[in-house]
Amino acid sequence: MKKGYFISLEGPDGAGKTTQGLRLATTARALGIETILTREPGGTRLGDAVREILLEPAFREMVPLTEVFLYAAARAQLYHEVIAPGLAAGNFLLCDRFIDSTLAYQVYGGRMDFSFVLQANLRAIYGRLPDKTFVLDLDPASGLARRGAGAADRVEQKPLSFHSRVREGFLLLARQFPERIVVLDGSLPPDELAAIIWSNVGPELEKLR
Ligand code: TMP
Repeated sequence: MKKGYFISLEGPDGAGKTTQGLRLATTARALGIETILTREPGGTRLGDAVREILLEPAFREMVPLTEVFLYAAARAQLYHEVIAPGLAAGNFLLCDRFIDSTLAYQVYGGRMDFSFVLQANLRAIYGRLPDKTFVLDLDPASGLARRGAGAADRVEQKPLSFHSRVREGFLLLARQFPERIVVLDGSLPPDELAAIIWSNVGPELEKLR
């Protein structure tokens, strides 16, 4: 029997995933649901080290294939250390970005081969896709502006045309996986978004109590 419940939050940079992740985790925990909130790239000691490499602007020489393998490596470790045990224990597993980010950024943004990247990543997660994925959709210019004045990381520094392909990529993925992916308007007020997300998954999560 399938145990636990697995949700990923996706979308372009600055779309509000992290805020919604915290809100959803807080709501679930307040109801007594065992909740694990994690993120990609990262979420493990090794994955956090890989994250530093991936986001370091000084690594201008990084080629798309290296990126694909580094994201997949961090993902394999997260799956092994956090996701698989969390789901096996019947927990609510909530991940800020997951496999769809690789498909949107590396395939649609970076023009890598779809089926190769999908297969490599399905391998990293033993085929365990999220039960539900929310894409917070936002036009890339507003997303990057929302990120504020801090120094842009290696991904944020890519041209707007790259970020536009990423956004389109998420929308194409939603058409490809309509059962799993729900697209939401990332420009809605956070309260409204949180309510929509809860109305979609609250009943499933309550079963975990
Ligand atoms: P974050 O800012 O949401 O933590 O994500 C870090 C950056 O990494 C973000 O710009 C998106 C990018 N990214 C990819 O390009 N591919 C991936 O598979 C993941 C998980 C993130």
